[in-house]
Amino acid sequence: MKPLAVAARSQDIAPFHVMDILARAKALEALGRDIIHLEIGEPDFATPAPIVKAGIRALAAGQTHYTSALGLPQLREAIAGFYASRWHVAVDPGRIVVTPGASGALFLALGLLAGPGDEVLMADPGYPCNRHFTRFCEARAVSVPVDAHSGFQLSLDLIERHATAATRAVLIASPSNPTGTTLPFAELARIRDWCADRRIALVVDEIYLALTYDSPEQSASRWDDVFVINSFSKYFLMTGWRLGWLAAPAWAMPALERLAQNLFLAAPTPAQHAALAAFLPETLDWLEARKTELRQRRDFFLPALRTLGFVIPAAPQGAFYLYADCSALIDDSHRLARLLLEEANVAATPGLDFGRHGAARHLRFAYTQPLHRLSEAAARLKRFLQA
Ligand SMILES: Cc1ncc(COP(=O)(O)O)c(C=O)c1O
Repeated sequence: MKPLAVAARSQDIAPFHVMDILARAKALEALGRDIIHLEIGEPDFATPAPIVKAGIRALAAGQTHYTSALGLPQLREAIAGFYASRWHVAVDPGRIVVTPGASGALFLALGLLAGPGDEVLMADPGYPCNRHFTRFCEARAVSVPVDAHSGFQLSLDLIERHATAATRAVLIASPSNPTGTTLPFAELARIRDWCADRRIALVVDEIYLALTYDSPEQSASRWDDVFVINSFSKYFLMTGWRLGWLAAPAWAMPALERLAQNLFLAAPTPAQHAALAAFLPETLDWLEARKTELRQRRDFFLPALRTLGFVIPAAPQGAFYLYADCSALIDDSHRLARLLLEEANVAATPGLDFGRHGAARHLRFAYTQPLHRLSEAAARLKRFLQA
């Protein structure tokens, strides 16, 4: 059948280029090649055993029906408890919406805040779905070019320069994907005050906050007028369970509940029961050990890439990404990503997936492989670059 006409928004939403890399990597693996996967934005570690067991128990007990749209009350309480114990902030559980991943939380927040004619400010490079969610809401994503001068983060100065009368929201992710860099908390506080004065919403994506290695973990949830996004995907190692949350201002909750009811009814029930085990002391101990491992990987792979000629001016303080300028080696990072895959058996993500600014100069390497594989990847890159 000839395709039907589809809505413009679906045409405007760009694919992930890394999916081509992944498909080619799989094809090469099927031919027997050993590919080192540094392209995927998810940790290689399994979900902690207590969470898996709690999930199995929930399924066996028939916990397979919808929960309320805002999530299981005991999970919302547990998340609030995590804010108190880990980040020393009191968040009312009544302000927490449990969502299908941080993706669901971002979609809810932008669905609430942005509509036709509205502008949402965000960093370029940045997490690409934010731009696409904004487009989906028929609003305009204003991608603000950021570089090492501002640690690849928005600053108040950049926001002031790009804000217009149509600005409805400012979106920040700290630590950032793809750069792993953080926004200094004092600057975040200035941005929050500026937004509050102008009645502009501030959305802070803290999905990598618990994976901050060098600076203190400081959550924007200390301000109850900020929309704070988080997830069980990254620190809690639950990517495929599809669970995240949004801590929202109290005034926004009725509308968010209506949106959640209509957009997805509720987050997955077995996953919500499983996530209750995420906050057990033994789970947290295990997760902290994985965090230490990630930090060791960064401490190995960052200098290794620099020695090979990749330029990484702002050292990443968190997440599990290195955003490397490869312009000293080649003028097209997409081509380099393909060459690295074909000739060095190393998969990385081209900068193109994170925006336009400097995209052709950058590759993102995710250190989501054990140290010995990272060491092998560095050796392969070295052989490739010296050939
Ligand atoms: C900055 C950022 N926000 C949100 C997400 C979405 O995560 P999830 O929906 O798995 O929680 C990701 C995933 O890579 C991310 O990097």
